[in-house]
Amino acid sequence: MKKLVINGGYPLNGCIRISGSKNAALPMMAASILSDCDITLNRIPNLADVRTMIALLDSMGIKIEKNHKSSFTFNASEIESKFASYELVKTMRASIMVLGPLLAKHGEAKVSLPGGCAIGARPVDLHIQGLEKLGAMIEIKDGYILASTERLIGSTYTFPKKSVTGTANILMAATLAEGETKILNAACEPEIVQLGELLNFMGAKIEGLGEDCIIIEGVENLEGAEIEIIPDRIETITMLIAGIITQGELKIENINPLHIQKPIELIGQCGAKIEISEDYLCLKSSNEILPISFETNPYPGIPTDIQAQLMVLNTVAQGDCEIKETIFENRFMHVLELKRMGANIEIDGNTAIVRGVSRLNSAQVMATDLRASAALILAGLIADGETIIDRIYHLDRGYERVEEKLSNIGAKVSRID
Ligand code: EPU
Repeated sequence: MKKLVINGGYPLNGCIRISGSKNAALPMMAASILSDCDITLNRIPNLADVRTMIALLDSMGIKIEKNHKSSFTFNASEIESKFASYELVKTMRASIMVLGPLLAKHGEAKVSLPGGCAIGARPVDLHIQGLEKLGAMIEIKDGYILASTERLIGSTYTFPKKSVTGTANILMAATLAEGETKILNAACEPEIVQLGELLNFMGAKIEGLGEDCIIIEGVENLEGAEIEIIPDRIETITMLIAGIITQGELKIENINPLHIQKPIELIGQCGAKIEISEDYLCLKSSNEILPISFETNPYPGIPTDIQAQLMVLNTVAQGDCEIKETIFENRFMHVLELKRMGANIEIDGNTAIVRGVSRLNSAQVMATDLRASAALILAGLIADGETIIDRIYHLDRGYERVEEKLSNIGAKVSRID
């Protein structure tokens, strides 16, 4: 199994370019099921999760053409199967996002229930409830969601709790439903907004994107479209933190400042100087890192997907802070590994109390999920000596060419078998 070896203690300096967003790419790939025409997505990141979604769409008979390095065209005019196997869904939960499109376009779908996950229970009950509200008949049998309908009928569905992929599923399904659908307490994440924009380019009638209430007027069919995927806001913040904790100076290119306003405001409190331009930012670190307390929240709040990385920043801050995780109940798996590297962290329910230490030490550590892997890399960058991170397949799900990008700005990081 592949491992990453990091020799810590080197400041990161130079220029780094952010990839297209994984969590924007995945729902838009699933949206191609809704049309018989070509859907072209540009700047798709080359990641394990993207390859899993390609494998899933390919298994259904969708034609997928690679135009060049990061541009793909999807054509679902000759779909053969409406089936998402346990093998694929267990590898990547985002596979659940084929459910809504299959049901809306073909009136049937058989999609595996995702099952457990390292960061919490993560049920998909709200996806199912929402689709039932649109008139779908749904049965759970042998671990599979069996869904069918003559045609979905527009309705109002209020999410009892905000769900990103849940909103994506209902939004996609509603585009081809008869009449008007209202999604209340909808997710406002930029990735959902871009999904809606793609659907509108395809001929859908969606209003209220980025707001609590999304209104969709169903249409008979959807056309082709082309779109460039937004920059990955989670990678942007991960790299920014890498620069800050190594006391480096970075220019981070291909970002969207509007998507990272709250995290940038928060991170500014640690003392680093961050200058934002239209599509890049410049970081000048300070010698001292001040602790920053925060809680995670749905967009526009602080994303749960940067909680682990911000925790690393706090492990070496001058003082104490509190980090409250409100989205996933079990997203502190990185804490034990960080403690093995000398961090002083105490967990009290969904709150972590982090007391800054002067330095971290290297250790052999194990990645437990995607963002935990990113946190361990960050910790490795500032630890004394050689850190070895095991199970980095998690990392390959969500960070494109991470060791190459980090090496280019001065990190000592390599991959071994
Ligand atoms: N929830 C339910 N029932 C549902 C759906 C969600 O109870 O049917 C709960 C979840 O258990 C969680 C909360 O609602 O407590 C929010 O979960 P959400 O549905 O928003 O998460 P998701 O859509 O499964 C996406 C991202 C995650 C990110 C979360 C939160 C994608 C493909 N995944 O997951 O990204 O952490 O939103 O922002 O967009 C990652 O990239 O590392 C990652 C895990």
